[in-house]
Amino acid sequence: MVKIPFAKPSFKGNELKYVTECITTGWISSIGSYVLEFEKVIASFHGVKHGIATSSGTTALHLALAALDIKESNEVIVPDITFIATANVVKYCNALPKLVDVNINDWNIDVSILEKSINENTKAIIPVHIYGNPARMNEIMKIAEKYKLAVIEDCAESFGAEEGNKKTGSFGLINCFSFFGNKIITTGEGGMCLTNDDKLAEKLRILRDHGMDKNRKYWHAVTGFNYRMTNLQAAIGLAQFEQFNKFYEARDFIYKEYISLLKDYPFIKFQETNSNKNVNWSSTVRISGINQQIRNKIIDDLLESGIESRPFFYPLHTMPAYSDKVYHASGFFVSNLLAEEGIALPTFVDMNSDQIKYVCERLVVSIEKNAHLPAGQAKQKIME
Ligand SMILES: Cc1ncc(COP(=O)(O)O)c(C=O)c1O
Repeated sequence: MVKIPFAKPSFKGNELKYVTECITTGWISSIGSYVLEFEKVIASFHGVKHGIATSSGTTALHLALAALDIKESNEVIVPDITFIATANVVKYCNALPKLVDVNINDWNIDVSILEKSINENTKAIIPVHIYGNPARMNEIMKIAEKYKLAVIEDCAESFGAEEGNKKTGSFGLINCFSFFGNKIITTGEGGMCLTNDDKLAEKLRILRDHGMDKNRKYWHAVTGFNYRMTNLQAAIGLAQFEQFNKFYEARDFIYKEYISLLKDYPFIKFQETNSNKNVNWSSTVRISGINQQIRNKIIDDLLESGIESRPFFYPLHTMPAYSDKVYHASGFFVSNLLAEEGIALPTFVDMNSDQIKYVCERLVVSIEKNAHLPAGQAKQKIME
């Protein structure tokens, strides 16, 4: 029985009040003031002109690529460690996702090999801010400018994170968020594109709504999608956004607690950050020197103790849908290593200190047992 879940949303603000208002007024579908308000506040929080709310993070990414006319024979660079949607959306456009290894420190796309992966077919890069830790956006933007590539930030996991006092989601041409139930702020399912470009914003809105002409109802000049967010979802999102500072503080506290309780174990390694604001979507660790078999045993042990944890994302190049060499733009030494050693630990806003201590204690005991490390002081040290 799970006592400590991996993730859990927190609804202690105006969620119910705003959703009730949608129901009592009848504005439950995709027309309604909450959608407009949610788009406005999220764009303004990021210092970006336009917010285009969508039905999910995946549809936000697909919409962005469609608005940029990504098509057959185009290549789009994607990190090898990410959630599958980042690459799948490239395939939805009949284009070729090209996977690049990540770096061992921050686990984001390895900027040092990025340039080598660019060729005359490359049209865009989708950097992902993995687990809430910003990718090296300043360097990525310089490379993108040099080769005239569009940058689409995948900020699904990094709402509110900053690189050099600039928020993730404010660097690229179109930047995409997910508001799935386990994200920093949630709308249940949902997403958003942000852009400063007026023309692209209009195109995103048209494509989101079946390609319908802005001034001529039911006239469809282009083939679009139904990727709209509902007013109900936006109502929840607005209430969640109002609590962002509290959410950020809670997640930051959890991360710092994990680091402080596990600091005496040199084999437990945390993600390094270049940023001044990492939003700790997920407290992830590498247990150096173990393999996937031991890692899975640790995950099983934790579950037996009532703790839900997750393996790292499997490197995309290892999955059947992406194993063909045509998708591979580099070697994958680091992503393979992370796949052996990585565990994502429970992280949610309402997690308390005792729960964090319990996770750390069970984690170290299990590592000692399964990796045949000298047993003993783990429990005592952590519970002191
Ligand atoms: C990095 C990344 N990209 C894209 C997505 C897709 O978002 P959604 O689940 O809202 O479609 C997710 C979320 O699950 C994600 O973590």
